[in-house]
Amino acid sequence: MAKKHVLVTGGAGFIGSHLVDDLLGRGFEVTVLDALLPQVHADGELDEHGWPTYLNPAARRIKGNLLDDGVFEAALDGVTHLAHLAASVGVGQSMTNIVDYTRNNVMTSAIMLEVLSKCPHTVERIAVASSMSIYGEGEYRDADGKRVAASLRTREQLQDKAWELENAGGALEPIPTSETKLLEPASIYAVNKRDHEEMFLAVGRALDIPTVALRLFNAYGSRQALSNPYTGVAAIFISRLLNDQPPLVFEDGEQKRDFVHVGDVANAFATVLESDKRVWDVFNVGSGNAITVNEIARTLARLLHKNIAPNVLEEYRIGDIRHCFADISKLRQVFDIAPPRDFEGGMQELIDWVRVAKKPVDKTEASLSELRSSKLVV
Ligand SMILES: NC(=O)c1ccc[n+]([C@@H]2O[C@H](COP(=O)([O-])OP(=O)(O)OC[C@H]3O[C@@H](n4cnc5c(N)ncnc54)[C@H](O)[C@@H]3O)[C@@H](O)[C@H]2O)c1
Repeated sequence: MAKKHVLVTGGAGFIGSHLVDDLLGRGFEVTVLDALLPQVHADGELDEHGWPTYLNPAARRIKGNLLDDGVFEAALDGVTHLAHLAASVGVGQSMTNIVDYTRNNVMTSAIMLEVLSKCPHTVERIAVASSMSIYGEGEYRDADGKRVAASLRTREQLQDKAWELENAGGALEPIPTSETKLLEPASIYAVNKRDHEEMFLAVGRALDIPTVALRLFNAYGSRQALSNPYTGVAAIFISRLLNDQPPLVFEDGEQKRDFVHVGDVANAFATVLESDKRVWDVFNVGSGNAITVNEIARTLARLLHKNIAPNVLEEYRIGDIRHCFADISKLRQVFDIAPPRDFEGGMQELIDWVRVAKKPVDKTEASLSELRSSKLVV
């Protein structure tokens, strides 16, 4: 039987590069297609051709943009499996650069799917990177124990700094969010991610190519872009702390998130691609554990031996949700995925990597001013 050959779009990025390592370890042939966007790669260690030095040398490399004519089609030569991770990933930035985001996150999907429908190819399985951001608010339980798909908080409520959600019956309690939760994307990035997920599932079904969309929660780990102010709260906090600056925390810092180690994300993608289950479906990829933003800031300060408390801004970012953490039972049941790694061990590993990585440039303040002047932080 011919070797399975995976095309990883965005394979030079944070998650993509870990997926490349995992797939090569499982015996797949791997091709990386990446545009090497400057916002992601400008501050990293690059080789003479502009590729990040961390990228596994055993993978074939194509520098190209999915938006450019013929690039995707040419990259499909001999490919049996497609992992689509290329995207623009800044939630805040997506609210001002709407055309660019929609072009890069949705038009790319249209181009890829049209190639898959019209041109000869050998793709037999697809996995795409979706995001928890498409849920909007996470899932909640009301005072009677009934599951509630809560609406986004109103501007008036946020102006009153009434951060928690409630309904007529009183306060709502956050519970793990399952894939059945009503989708209520609150940013252009999230709308793009929902659209691309649905486009791939619809066309994958029509072409009879099993297709899975993995809804990733907050991934962290080595190779995360440390200077990119739009992504990755853990990396941003480490970057602040290493510059002896307090992490900047929106609202009161008690909002809950789900941090998943990048190795667990790569494992989820590789397991889904390796499986021969014929499914067209969506799956959460998280740790299943809720942690507050304050706890993350404090844990990182402790692990970095910095006596720096977070700066709690009591301001909110338009489009931010209050709580969202994953119910990961579906992925575990269908694909028998290994349990996620432990948070502190994972964060320590991230810090060890940051210590030897290129010193990050802290761009948080500049990004905050930009969001304030666009009235996206109030
Ligand atoms: N990092 C997270 O926590 C997280 C959470 C939810 C979803 N996701 C999704 O996972 C995927 C990977 O995210 P990441 O954090 O590794 O991002 P990243 O920015 O590190 O990597 C994305 C890569 O895609 C490339 N790229 C972007 N547009 C391209 C195009 N048009 N053509 C070719 N290459 C292009 C970039 O150069 C970059 O190397 C994205 O689809 C993102 O939406 C990530």
